[in-house]
Amino acid sequence: MSKYITTPIYYVNGEAHIGHAYTTFIADTMARYEKLKGNKTYFLTGTDEHGQKIEESAQKHGKPTQEFADEISASFKNLWDEFEIGYDKFIRTTDADHKLGVQKAFEVMYAKGDIYKDFYEGHYCVSCETFFPETQLVDGEFCPDCGRTTSIVKEESYFFKLSKYEDALLKHYEENPDFILPRSRANEVINFVKGGLRDLSVTRTSFTWGVKLPESMNDDKHVMYVWLDALMNYITALGYGTDEANMDFWPASTQFVGKDILRFHAIYWPAFLMSLDLPLPQHIGAHGWWTRDGEKMSKSKGNVVSPKEVSDLYGVENLRYFMLREVPFGQDGDFSQRAFIDRINSELSNDLGNLLNRIIGMSGKYSDFEIDSIDVEKYHTKELDAMNEALGNLDGFMQNMQTHRYLEELWKLFAIGNKAIEEHAPWVKMKEGKKDEALATVALVANILAKASIMLSPVMPKTTATIADALNFTIDNTSYNELVIDKKLLKLFNIKKVPPLFPRIEEPLMEESPEAMPDDKPNDNMKEDLITDKEAKKEEDNLIEIGQFFETSLKVGVVIEAEEVPKSKKLLKLQVDIGEGTNRQVVAGIKEFYSAESLINTQVCVVANLKPAKLMGMMSEGMLLAAKDEDGLCLVRPEKPKKAGTPIG
Ligand code: MSP
Repeated sequence: MSKYITTPIYYVNGEAHIGHAYTTFIADTMARYEKLKGNKTYFLTGTDEHGQKIEESAQKHGKPTQEFADEISASFKNLWDEFEIGYDKFIRTTDADHKLGVQKAFEVMYAKGDIYKDFYEGHYCVSCETFFPETQLVDGEFCPDCGRTTSIVKEESYFFKLSKYEDALLKHYEENPDFILPRSRANEVINFVKGGLRDLSVTRTSFTWGVKLPESMNDDKHVMYVWLDALMNYITALGYGTDEANMDFWPASTQFVGKDILRFHAIYWPAFLMSLDLPLPQHIGAHGWWTRDGEKMSKSKGNVVSPKEVSDLYGVENLRYFMLREVPFGQDGDFSQRAFIDRINSELSNDLGNLLNRIIGMSGKYSDFEIDSIDVEKYHTKELDAMNEALGNLDGFMQNMQTHRYLEELWKLFAIGNKAIEEHAPWVKMKEGKKDEALATVALVANILAKASIMLSPVMPKTTATIADALNFTIDNTSYNELVIDKKLLKLFNIKKVPPLFPRIEEPLMEESPEAMPDDKPNDNMKEDLITDKEAKKEEDNLIEIGQFFETSLKVGVVIEAEEVPKSKKLLKLQVDIGEGTNRQVVAGIKEFYSAESLINTQVCVVANLKPAKLMGMMSEGMLLAAKDEDGLCLVRPEKPKKAGTPIG
């Protein structure tokens, strides 16, 4: 069976961040998983380089557009190469054969009568490269997707008859309930289509940085709409319209996208494919968004997590593991250094790393590193059954992209191994002269580690290759079939010593996120800042128990010292008396609103039980309550003076 897996192609207007890394990791994991199972697999990623937005970004940087696109595209490719992402092709929409393929698709759709010429007048958002009807604008002016100002654009345009495909799309969703995954995301798409589809403007005359129309159209005023151009990458990468070399990989098995671009992939894309008489992908997998320490990431807040920085400090495979384990596919995820370190220390270092070390140690001591599975079945049927049950559950989780459940289930194996060692205490058995029993437990755990490593290899390819090396086997489709599918045990083999795989992390290695203050300046990443009505509604629904509120310790504090943080536009460093002789250092983002001296001897409300965090290298041991709106920020203070330390609540 052949499998074709894709990531979205990334805009070349900024460096890769952790959200991009997540899509790439999950797609890479899925591709590696399919390869492991012996499926013929093609994995595509790349960059999306046309459109007004890129043209404007290049101008801002004072560079010719192509040169700018070349640089950023290379930065993505280099990062994926450094991360050893196993893509089969890295496509660029500025590639000559991609452009030919898009032109071919345009011709086919035109010949079919699905494209016609007319005029378009509408509100256009340059950032999203999308027209919006007036009814969808926020306050009659702003883009409903990213919140930026739209402008009225009137231009001659070619239109794609999207409306023609309304019924066919609805039928497809109904007949293929797993077309959109997770299924919970399907409704928003279905409702959108049911609301009526308008024909889609698929060319532009207002700028030139795009794919030209095919020569046969004899109309060089127009360039293609960037989403038409971009979506076609999934087939042009296989040779559509040129050599067709890999078109037998089509239709894609899974196309991963972020939830913000689901509509393009679940509505426009299948409609284009229907027009081209091509089959539709099996699944569109829409994942959620990543935040940092509970805050939306944005350049202006300076809190964007750089995957390169994290991987330099903690290792890329630890990051892969964390991201795939932390969040249920489809839901939003939060990157916090604390949670990341906790998972490395407890799951990777303790559960997995220690188990391997113990097995290396025991096999060395008891049998000169030689392991034989001969007695495993005799002493450990219970453990083998539990192990096989967990192994048998894994495929279902991966097919549904539930990587967190997959890893959770896989970790049951390590729990079985650790428990077997505790229960059977091979060192006691050795003392009692029951060497075969002791060695059976060691061999059981070696087998558990071997099988688990095979199944963990799509997530952590290099680490698991080292484990396999220590256990003297190779992870590939043959060992997968023998050890996982046929449930065989390892034959007589020698264990090799390897250095500890997951040294414990004692101290955070990365600068903590700058204090997240609401920031209403428009910025390059407004998409990420926007709080939609839906999210506000979610907040309303997200009621907490009174007990949860009281988990926060709020206290009256008195500022006894205050000074500016050098080189910071926002931060003040305060010493706050919170009663009973306790002072707390609080680094607060209030410099734009208060001078340091005006705060001395004033009262504030302090969150007193926050985990300390480092801001610009300084410890902050609390947070001040403040209110902020368009007129600025003000601190929340007791109405009448209260003693330092008075509880609030
Ligand atoms: N170029 C288009 C995709 C065209 S595909 C034919 C695009 N590019 S993007 O660079 O803006 O985004 C690429 C992917 O990154 C999207 O799937 C988007 O959802 C994802 N992410 C961007 N920010 C994200 C987070 N903070 N968290 C998770 N993913 C996010 O859209």
